[in-house]
Amino acid sequence: MVKKRASIFISGKGSNLKNLIKKSREYNFPISINLVVCNNPNSEGILHAKKNSIPLLIIDTKKRNFENKILLYLKKYKISLICLAGYMKILSKKFLNNYKKIIINIHPSLLPKFKGLNTFSRILENKEIKTGCTVHYVSEKLDDGNIISQKYFYINKNDNEIIIKRKTQIQEYLAFPEAIIKIYRYN
Ligand code: GAR
Repeated sequence: MVKKRASIFISGKGSNLKNLIKKSREYNFPISINLVVCNNPNSEGILHAKKNSIPLLIIDTKKRNFENKILLYLKKYKISLICLAGYMKILSKKFLNNYKKIIINIHPSLLPKFKGLNTFSRILENKEIKTGCTVHYVSEKLDDGNIISQKYFYINKNDNEIIIKRKTQIQEYLAFPEAIIKIYRYN
């Protein structure tokens, strides 16, 4: 099969990146990962790109026109899917208008609940009985856009933020690949 060329955007640990790299090696998985974009030079995730010899762009978001540089790289590497995997910077409207292909994001809650930051503490404060993660198309509004895939689990009464985060990420490693398969199922 001819795989679609994807770029993964990260800012932190990169555990979703690691998982997607592993999945992309499977014969039937619809994407290959041809570029990693990172806005944090201290991100642990950078190591996954290096270890797997994936082209890497580390950008300084304080520089003017940094998004133009990203757009150039996306073109250079013929990227037709962007996966935001813990990329903690909002893409500008201009970027979204310029990149005409697919952009998806993973968020650690059952959207439309708990958009934005500090998700886990708000979930606990709100005494939710279940939570999970969502993969959705990126639109101009934060953590909005059509939902592609969601996975959930029930919260135990002793669960704290660390445990909820861990349980959420286990679901993320299932939801992200599942969403990517769904996108290309009929293409
Ligand atoms: C993931 O849990 C993802 O849902 C979250 O960042 C984490 C990145 O983890 N994203 C957001 O909060 C975006 N609003 P990772 O670097 O280990 O993949």
